[in-house]
Amino acid sequence: MIMQIGNLQLNVEDRGSGRPLLLIHGFPLNLEMWRPQIESLSTKQRIIAIDLRGHGLSPSTPGPYPMRLLAEDCAALIKALEVDQPLVVCGFSMGGYISFSLYRHHPDLFSGLILASTRAGADTDQGKTNRGQAIAKVRQQGIHPVIESMLPALVAPKTYRENHELVQQVTGIMEQTSPEGMISALQGMMERPDSTGMLGEINVPTLIVHALDDQIISISDSEAMHTGIPNSQLEIIPEAGHLLNLEQEKKFNEIVTNFINSI
Ligand code: MLT
Repeated sequence: MIMQIGNLQLNVEDRGSGRPLLLIHGFPLNLEMWRPQIESLSTKQRIIAIDLRGHGLSPSTPGPYPMRLLAEDCAALIKALEVDQPLVVCGFSMGGYISFSLYRHHPDLFSGLILASTRAGADTDQGKTNRGQAIAKVRQQGIHPVIESMLPALVAPKTYRENHELVQQVTGIMEQTSPEGMISALQGMMERPDSTGMLGEINVPTLIVHALDDQIISISDSEAMHTGIPNSQLEIIPEAGHLLNLEQEKKFNEIVTNFINSI
């Protein structure tokens, strides 16, 4: 459903009842990346999945979209939905960068944190150059060249070779991102602060999930978050790449359910 929050329209899926779990998607994706989690986990608890502005069915606004702005959108959504208890927030990749910002400014919203395929660090100089090139590409040629260049890195090499259905599905999800949304999120990620210094201050139970064949996030990124966050556990999923929740949905759901039950 589309919710009007101030001047902003956000598409959200709010399913099930009980302990709330907020799902924040990655770039350039939308809440459809959480379909297996929404369907399965909402039988046991409340699942709230957002389309960030400019992604999926949420209209874009003029950019850039700093991670702080997207985090405030999540906070405003939680308020508008009248969620009456702290949530577990699950951020995937860019959604993880947003989760750090949300925690920094609204720690009381959290009962737990799940960091999936993400990192605490800021972009390197090379990373910023790559973002700049991607922005120029979207401006000149639209979203498709960026989608095509990202696709092989979003899943494990084996998944990319063999699971054409999943690759098609992910392509379809990315195609829903508007050019303005894509450029604005790239600008926001490029400017994002380094969250490494705040890891020691995260004092809710935290689950870090890493896929062995992730080509975007290295195992050392995940280990650094595990070392830095006091009450954290690190789970490693084999035979999956960056989009671990789609490539190994059962395993991912099981790890998340066990973590939530342990809080
Ligand atoms: C994502 O999946 O959100 C992006 O790959 C994150 C990034 O580009 O840093």
